[in-house]
Amino acid sequence: MSSKNAIDEANEKLLFEAENDKKLSYIENTKEVTIIAAAAENNALGKDNRLIWHIPEDLKRFKRLTSGHAIIMGRKTFESLPKALPNRHNIVISKNKSYTAEGASVCHNLEEAIALAENDNQPFIIGGGQIYEQAMEIAHKIELTRVHKDYEADTFFPLIDLNKWSKVSEESIENSNNEPSHFSYLTFIKK
Ligand SMILES: NC(=O)c1ccc[n+]([C@@H]2O[C@H](COP(=O)([O-])OP(=O)(O)OC[C@H]3O[C@@H](n4cnc5c(N)ncnc54)[C@H](OP(=O)(O)O)[C@@H]3O)[C@@H](O)[C@H]2O)c1
Repeated sequence: MSSKNAIDEANEKLLFEAENDKKLSYIENTKEVTIIAAAAENNALGKDNRLIWHIPEDLKRFKRLTSGHAIIMGRKTFESLPKALPNRHNIVISKNKSYTAEGASVCHNLEEAIALAENDNQPFIIGGGQIYEQAMEIAHKIELTRVHKDYEADTFFPLIDLNKWSKVSEESIENSNNEPSHFSYLTFIKK
């Protein structure tokens, strides 16, 4: 190899390492990776790739909190939606390298997803069970709607370890006109 080629190759390697360092430090410095979920008392999240309940107030709150932000989800959750959610950067995680999703960016692990949300200081992790499980380690905040009932399900929210998370707010909602009629908005911050 000529010395010019060797120098070009060394420069390329340095550039690649610098890019990688930038990505990693971005993930470490991201202020508020926020998990947002609605889970039953038994941590039920969904069944047959669908939600188990319909709580209009909670959907409005979800829209209010996530609008303008990046929303990161697993491929199954994306496929459970009618289409990409508007006014949000939809980011879908799949192992399948040829997967495409209309109206969304596709990537292949959670770290890549956070890096794709680099212009957002509060990217939201919106599910489902597999992605919540993986996000518990890196998330800074959880916005959890706790539905005060048990449901039969095939997908569950991970246990929240109170040695690692502090509950910083709790708002109880009772609405006798709706089913489920009782739920609470809980916010947890990583200790
Ligand atoms: N209650 C709530 O707040 C809430 C919120 C969201 C979703 N849900 C419910 O949750 C259920 C879906 O959750 P789920 O756990 O079955 O699926 P999911 O987490 O939405 O998606 C799983 C898929 O994500 C991809 N994936 C996961 N980990 C990966 C990794 N490390 N690297 C690359 N790709 C990865 C895989 O896609 P590929 O198979 O393409 O590789 C995997 O099959 C539905 O019932 C939905 O309605 C409930």
